[in-house]
Amino acid sequence: MLTVAVLISGTGSNLRALLEAARHPDFPARVVVVGADRQAEGLAHAEEFGIPSFTVPWHEHENRAAWGDEVARQLAVWKPDLVVLSGLMRLLPPALVAEYSPRLINTHPAYLPEFPGAHGVRDALAAGAEQTGASVIVVDDGVDTGPILAQERVPILPDDTEHSLHERIKPVERRLLIDVVRRIATGDLPLTSA
Ligand code: GRF
Repeated sequence: MLTVAVLISGTGSNLRALLEAARHPDFPARVVVVGADRQAEGLAHAEEFGIPSFTVPWHEHENRAAWGDEVARQLAVWKPDLVVLSGLMRLLPPALVAEYSPRLINTHPAYLPEFPGAHGVRDALAAGAEQTGASVIVVDDGVDTGPILAQERVPILPDDTEHSLHERIKPVERRLLIDVVRRIATGDLPLTSA
């Protein structure tokens, strides 16, 4: 059974989808802990599913490295086989990436390498693109530059807002994430750093 830690910042809807998938006896992975960089709304999902959680508040740490060291200490308690960034709005420091990558994956609301960064949905709209997408990647030291594990196109509709487009992308992200975690767990998807 693959053990998974999930790190979030927001509402955690992708986390919730993974928790729901993972409670099926046939699913080959279990979420063992959820971590956040703030009092994220999504921590409520962990509580509801009886999964332990921790918060390492970004603003209580002197710099990225110090914050990352504390996240690493918390994760070490659970020794997860895989760490999933699901809406974590922080770049991880190099030491944390080095410790877990390629067993460190991220979901992104665009068809990478198009529209990397924190505003992937907004940037796709601003560019006047006709389609964008969702991606699941291995985290490396760049911003959304790691190897792509799965991705799928999502059309942009003429009256889309950032919110409506993001709400259409998220279900695709969830499906891709669950499928990637399953395939990693069964060994169908080997993780490599490049
Ligand atoms: C997802 O689109 C994720 O890729 C992005 O933020 C969103 C997280 O949503 N970085 P949620 O917290 O899972 O609802």
